[in-house]
Amino acid sequence: MKTNNKKQSVFVILLLLLFIVAVPSAMADITGSAHDFSAESWTVDNQICVVCHTPHSGDTASNAPLWNHATTTATFTLYSSSTMNATVSQPGGRSKLCLSCHDGTVALDSFGGNTGGTTISGGALLSTDLGNDHPISITYDSALATADGELSDPSSALSGLGGTIEADMLFSSSMMECSSCHDVHNSAGVPALLVKANTGSDLCLTCHIK
Ligand code: HEC
Ligand code: HEC
Ligand code: HEC
Ligand code: HEC
Repeated sequence: MKTNNKKQSVFVILLLLLFIVAVPSAMADITGSAHDFSAESWTVDNQICVVCHTPHSGDTASNAPLWNHATTTATFTLYSSSTMNATVSQPGGRSKLCLSCHDGTVALDSFGGNTGGTTISGGALLSTDLGNDHPISITYDSALATADGELSDPSSALSGLGGTIEADMLFSSSMMECSSCHDVHNSAGVPALLVKANTGSDLCLTCHIK
């Protein structure tokens, strides 16, 4: 009986430790992430959100609320492959928001109606050539999963984020975009602003059956 109690309290302590370790990642946010622009000379009053959103006079037509950043008008080179079943189209509005900084054609500080001069560089510069990047702006539905044979059915397979792939990772019911894999606000607190960690290719294996 005594040893059993001891075992139980060790178990409770382990659980508590797990909780303490797990909480900081649940509280992760944009502060300190690659999208924390507060230390940049080109933002206004050390603000983070203003580069992308504004409380007033925002662009309500966009795919993000109260959008404040100039949008790219580039035509992109798309991913193409003979083994792919999906049809790739020019980036949809939601992915265009990302490409408005990441394609390098629009300055980071082109927001609030101003035209800036600082463009993105390094690994984060994807350019207008998306031919070597994971396809986006594709319809990923049950029919595609059946046609492909090696994709989970997004309407029933779980994402690991609380619901199905369709509910948690797709937009306008079945569109795959940059935000299918990325969380622009770093809510998950995992590297590369991903929606979930890619340890052991977990992210990839959410959709791909390999
Ligand atoms: C680098 C650009 C960027 C920055 C900086 C940014 N956001 Fe966003 N935000 C977006 C995008 C893009 C979306 C649309 C959702 C998506 O595609 O993931 C969005 C969506 C939202 C939404 C609506 C739904 C959601 O996803 O939560 C709210 C609210 C929001 N942002 C608030 C904020 C606040 C507050 C800040 C500053 C602390 C901020 N954002 C900073 C790009 C940004
Ligand atoms: C206002 C401009 C802007 C917008 C809009 C924007 N980003 Fe970024 N992003 C940046 C900058 C600047 C960096 C940091 C580049 C660096 O560190 O050199 C960055 C970094 C990243 C990184 C690398 C993170 C890391 O930790 O290495 C990812 C991933 C990313 N962005 C994805 C996105 C996605 C997805 C969207 C749209 C939902 C988006 N970004 C929208 C400016 C932007
Ligand atoms: C299928 C999932 C997926 C999609 C879709 C996706 N990404 Fe990523 N992205 C990743 C992963 C995983 C990484 C980190 C992998 C690595 O480079 O090690 C990454 C890395 C990045 C980085 C950091 C690159 C670097 O070397 O610093 C940027 C910036 C980025 N993505 C932006 C985007 C943008 C913008 C889009 C849409 C045009 C997009 N991603 C679409 C999965 C994705
Ligand atoms: C949200 C779901 C999703 C995630 C997450 C995802 N993919 Fe995909 N991926 C797809 C879909 C859908 C296609 C299109 C497949 C087709 O039509 O044949 C695709 C296509 C591809 C292709 C091109 C296949 C071809 O035949 O040309 C490769 C390679 C790939 N994914 C690798 C990855 C890797 C690596 C990761 C993890 C970093 C990843 N994917 C994450 C959904 C996803």
